[in-house]
Amino acid sequence: MSTTEQTGAARIDHVVVPGTFDPVTLGHMDVISRTRKLFPRVTVAVAASVNKRGRGTAFTLEERVEMLRQALAEEGLSDVEVLPFTGLLVDFCHGIGALGVVKGLRAMTDFEYELQQADLNCHMAPDIESVFVMSNPKYGYVSSSIVREISSMGSDVSSLVPPCVNQRLKEHYSA
Ligand code: COA
Repeated sequence: MSTTEQTGAARIDHVVVPGTFDPVTLGHMDVISRTRKLFPRVTVAVAASVNKRGRGTAFTLEERVEMLRQALAEEGLSDVEVLPFTGLLVDFCHGIGALGVVKGLRAMTDFEYELQQADLNCHMAPDIESVFVMSNPKYGYVSSSIVREISSMGSDVSSLVPPCVNQRLKEHYSA
């Protein structure tokens, strides 16, 4: 009898990487590609309109999903599925049969916030495991709002975002 059969726990072969992705950065891409190395099936879940500070998004849900799909295709990660979601993350996970949520940790400040979210999710859905990967230090300072701020001032962000996002940001802020 295998260990999973003995404990009754299901093996996790499908995980969700959730976020607002407004827009997706190279930091996010690093977390997604490393998650794909760890799990056979990965779904990136793009939240409709919430972010850490409760503000609206610069890009529409459709634009954020499209940028992610294009960026993943450019990286040879087309087998990573991208889906929009509204409502509770744990309900979305149950709906698609994913038993894990993977998030990247950049610093201690991320940890406190992520721990609270993970605890909440565990309270609501104890069958869903939270998994954390440490962000590549190269991208420790990168965030979507920093990218938007620099780009909106006309500066180049090609070292911080995938090429298709760089192009999209230029169009967005020159419009
Ligand atoms: N690399 C680069 N940036 C990263 C990053 C990484 N590895 N990890 C996080 N970030 C940045 C994002 O760019 C974003 O930056 P910004 O604030 O400058 O725009 C910021 O961290 C917040 O990321 P975001 O994608 O908004 O994630 P979040 O941690 O706030 O969580 C959801 C978003 C959608 C996962 C969460 O709100 C959620 O689960 N919502 C559904 C409702 C729900 O279930 N609530 C109960 C559980 S809390």
